[in-house]
Amino acid sequence: MSEKSFSRREIIAVVTFFVLAVALGFGAYRTGIRMAGTGSGAVVAATPASATPDGQALFVGNCAGCHGAQAEGGVGPALGEAAAWSAPEFAQAVLNGVGPGGRALAPVMPHFAQTGLDGAPATDAQVEAIRTFIQGVQ
Ligand code: HEC
Repeated sequence: MSEKSFSRREIIAVVTFFVLAVALGFGAYRTGIRMAGTGSGAVVAATPASATPDGQALFVGNCAGCHGAQAEGGVGPALGEAAAWSAPEFAQAVLNGVGPGGRALAPVMPHFAQTGLDGAPATDAQVEAIRTFIQGVQ
């Protein structure tokens, strides 16, 4: 009757397995702590609907094709001067195609009150964000 005992190799294999399992578990635990500090924070910081509109994104999507990426001019004129108009004057031009003093802009310039910005009705906050973006690049 032979009593089965573990070989040296079997014992080393089992010990190695446990050491690796503990190391792996601890590593995952540490990673979890790190991710709790970054990943979940990013979710909490996700842009709420009420956040300030992204003037650059709006400009790139709706205006840059004609006015240039930096509002330096293209089909439409450079907008540095217009960005210095008062907010209501600027909005009037962008939304209704009417310049200061009631000057009607050429029909090529869209009336964003009708077309909307990015497919949704334009808001004053969006127009102001665009004006602020242009002031920053011109
Ligand atoms: C399809 C081309 C086109 C697009 C798109 C366009 N514009 Fe224009 N825009 C023009 C043209 C052309 C004029 C010149 C009209 C004129 O002077 O009669 C103009 C004029 C203007 C003016 C008056 C500038 C001045 O000094 O008289 C402003 C302000 C303006 N655009 C802002 C914008 C903004 C902001 C957007 C995006 C939300 C935009 N435009 C999108 C073509 C465009």
